[in-house]
Amino acid sequence: MGILDSLSLPVIIAPMAGGPSTPALANAAAEAGSLGFLAGGTMGVDQFRSELVQLRGRVAINLFRPQEQEPKPSDVDELAGLLTQPFREFKLGEPRVPMVDLSNGWEEKFRLAVAARPAVISCTFGLFTADEFATLKHAGIEAWVTVTNPEDARRAEQAGADALVVQGPEAGGHRSSWTIAEEPDVRSLDDLLQAVVAAGVRAPLVAAGGVATRADVVRVLSLGATAVACGSAFLLCDEAGTSPTNRDILRSAPDMGLTTVSSRSFSGRYARGVETRFVREHESLPPVYPYLNHLIAPLRAATGPLGNWDYAYCLVGTGIGNINDGTVKHILKALNPSG
Ligand SMILES: Cc1cc2nc3c(=O)[nH]c(=O)nc-3n(C[C@H](O)[C@H](O)[C@H](O)COP(=O)(O)O)c2cc1C
Repeated sequence: MGILDSLSLPVIIAPMAGGPSTPALANAAAEAGSLGFLAGGTMGVDQFRSELVQLRGRVAINLFRPQEQEPKPSDVDELAGLLTQPFREFKLGEPRVPMVDLSNGWEEKFRLAVAARPAVISCTFGLFTADEFATLKHAGIEAWVTVTNPEDARRAEQAGADALVVQGPEAGGHRSSWTIAEEPDVRSLDDLLQAVVAAGVRAPLVAAGGVATRADVVRVLSLGATAVACGSAFLLCDEAGTSPTNRDILRSAPDMGLTTVSSRSFSGRYARGVETRFVREHESLPPVYPYLNHLIAPLRAATGPLGNWDYAYCLVGTGIGNINDGTVKHILKALNPSG
């Protein structure tokens, strides 16, 4: 029996790097008969190690595939130039192009993750290698892959994925396309699910993107998904590590009519989040992930606490208007199609 068959409800908590996915969030999901993730994509190896030992019960771990394409140095320099004026305005000196590790610490994190024996290890931004698939199989850990189009779904299934997370453009956070330069598929989650099924993919599908209400869950399950993965719906929950600034933004969203946009202007690769002045003014930045995130960090740190959201990094999906406070248990109950 696969992990998805053993859940008490067909709703899992999607991985959310950068703070929201705490061990407490994953543990609370396990306790409620769902599944939650340690989102190990961007954190340092030491932090990853310390969060691993806090996990309890049946949990999953998400990792980011190493990035094979190096952004063009001229694009990165241009970006630094673009930030010069706001850096001066906030007395932050000159923007500095950082040293960036494009490996995401994959090798070490993969080794530590396998040793922790979670129920699932999922891969974002690409595929496990054949050796890694074999290691997971041998260890009795399910290998999940996040896909954003039918071609990647077929490739992931053929390579040995036990389940596919089909992520639509409505999703908060980064789009799990496999290169930083490609334009991601713009078909809705519903259309993508149907296209993946029509492409003959037989692996169980987990649908992610804009699933924010019980009615959304019911609709998406009717299109062939075995379960849904909700991220944004849990951003305000008690166990999430969402920052105080982002909690303020999300709580203000319905009254302020804040909208989300999918853009490279949050981090340098396509991600969906609350549209800010910076994003509006720099609609078509080149693929400079992850440099933008590092370069702009001082500006975000200086402006957020002032209540200035011009440079905010509040990644969230199209369900932004339907995010509630409460415990994991409470939010899962509200999303459970069986009530
Ligand atoms: C703040 C935030 C961080 C995210 N970080 C990750 C991540 O580390 N790994 C990943 O595969 N997906 C990540 N995502 C995408 C989610 O796993 C999921 O696909 C998405 O939240 C589903 O859409 P929804 O937010 O509309 O529910 C993130 C999403 C958000 C909102």
